[in-house]
Amino acid sequence: MKMPPRHVAIIMDGNGRWAVSRGKIRLEGHRAGAKKVLEVIDWCKESGVEFLTLYAFSTENWKRSAEEVDGLMKLMGLLLRTKVGLFVKSNVRVRVIGRKEDLPAPLQRQIASAEKRTAQCDGLNLQVAVSYGGRAEIADAVKRYAQDVLDGRVEASTAPSDEVFRRYLYAPDVPDPDLIIRTSGEFRLSNFLLWESAYSEFWKTGILWPDFGKDEFEAALESFSGRERRMGGRFK
Ligand code: IPE
Ligand code: IPE
Ligand code: MG
Repeated sequence: MKMPPRHVAIIMDGNGRWAVSRGKIRLEGHRAGAKKVLEVIDWCKESGVEFLTLYAFSTENWKRSAEEVDGLMKLMGLLLRTKVGLFVKSNVRVRVIGRKEDLPAPLQRQIASAEKRTAQCDGLNLQVAVSYGGRAEIADAVKRYAQDVLDGRVEASTAPSDEVFRRYLYAPDVPDPDLIIRTSGEFRLSNFLLWESAYSEFWKTGILWPDFGKDEFEAALESFSGRERRMGGRFK
């Protein structure tokens, strides 16, 4: 059997276009996208993927209309509240990475509760990136690193190794993504996992996120299994 990627990360893009093409408001696209999340969790479990990271809201997405931002915050809160029982039952551990302190207080509480209730789950590890930016993550890491230097806990005369720097990221215990999938045809990272994606494999599709199907997911895994990952080493 082919080895599945251990960690799959997805840039779930195209909800707005999906809605507009159906004459609906953008939030309807986000609702359809949220349903897709539950399906993808199942596909990951079936395929033996251990870590799934979903890009739900970037640090730049705050620029959107107040109506859309508010709708997204409420939708994420609703999903966490209503699905946490399902996550516990299906052994899915939920964690949120990003600037949680910028989120509305009710969502922060829902996140804390979902993280606590699923903390003992050891099946799929689901990470949701909310108010997440790769640059913000690196800046937050540097801030904490600088504090450790000031407090004398770290020697700053040499640059931190990758191993040391990783400890300051949002989820140091999570391995780097092996495969990053982006839907809706865009070919860019949009500030996702900048540090962690150094050697990730990319796969993209023109399909909009709410239409993303198991066939595409399997095609991404199939493509991944044929990649030669050299990590800077020599070709065999
Ligand atoms: C992705 O869909 C979800 C978020 C960024 C929150 P978009 O809302 O970006 O959809 P498009 O790209 O406008 O179609
Ligand atoms: C990236 O999508 C962020 C998420 C999917 C949450 P965007 O739609 O925000 O990215 P750009 O604007 O196309 O780069
Ligand atoms: Mg988009």
